[in-house]
Amino acid sequence: MDELIKNLVETYGPSGFEWKIRALIRDEIEPYVEDIKVDAMGNLIAHRPGDGDGLKVMVAAHMDEIGLMVSHITEKGFLRFTNIGGVRPQSLMGSRVQFSNGTTGVIYSEKLESWAKLHPLNKHYIDVGATSREDCPVEVGAAAAFLRPFVSQGNRWIAKSMDDRIGCAVVIEALKEIEHSINEIYFVFSVQEEVGTRGALTAANALQPDVGLAVDVTLSGDMPETNTIAVVLGSGPAIKVKDSGMIAHTGLVNQMKLRAEEAKIPYQLEVLEGGSTDARSMQIAGAGSAAGCLSIPTRYVHSQSEVVDVSDVKNSVRLLSDLLSKPINL
Ligand code: CO
Ligand code: ZN
Repeated sequence: MDELIKNLVETYGPSGFEWKIRALIRDEIEPYVEDIKVDAMGNLIAHRPGDGDGLKVMVAAHMDEIGLMVSHITEKGFLRFTNIGGVRPQSLMGSRVQFSNGTTGVIYSEKLESWAKLHPLNKHYIDVGATSREDCPVEVGAAAAFLRPFVSQGNRWIAKSMDDRIGCAVVIEALKEIEHSINEIYFVFSVQEEVGTRGALTAANALQPDVGLAVDVTLSGDMPETNTIAVVLGSGPAIKVKDSGMIAHTGLVNQMKLRAEEAKIPYQLEVLEGGSTDARSMQIAGAGSAAGCLSIPTRYVHSQSEVVDVSDVKNSVRLLSDLLSKPINL
């Protein structure tokens, strides 16, 4: 699974600019599905008909990642930028980014008055080695993704964009594992989640699923003096009960708990006070669906070194395959 995750996290694909990551995922899953298509927004939608009278299930993992977009270029060729999704100044200085044409840039900020006070994003810039606006290799509107290699170390996987390429990996592995299912399943690799769960909204409107399940990261509460959340690394996948955009369908939550208990898969219950996932869009699209989320506990979400536990990821694959292949009693 290391190799798949490495490829997923290192492939370019900021929100709205997902064509490279979409091509990679398509190649990976095409042999395992009945049909596959790309909708107008760019969502990759793979379909597996069920072999019984189960439910219509939409599983969504977002393939976009946070990034930066060039807003203007100074006379001397430095790029000013705006954020694509939740990018924070504390993880920027000295970082590298890459544009779709391969241009690499270094991010820095204007001189700080005090090390205790960071500048906002608009006082940062990207240096791509240009000396004037004219010789700049990228233009206004170009999108950059962060540049960081994947590292596998002991029980931990470290990378940028684990949010949500690790969710994509879990869905891909489950899709390969499931041979038969009573349920009709649509595997959706969604676009533009980081800018407001937009891709999942149009996909769910088109598919009108009975069940909408997101597979995404959630926060971890086990670092020094961090956010309070009853989720830690290494204690199994988290079953979301609530986040700031959604209250999960209780029948689906109970079904996930039951599947985990029967298969002896460790799990945690998640109440996340800030943030949401594609499940929010699936829940309220069209006439609505029974929505929930299987979350992978992750440290340092939206930094360029997001950390997950290997056993949590493997257990997430087991729980997802089990849930999808058996009858879902809401
Ligand atoms: Co995110
Ligand atoms: Zn995410």
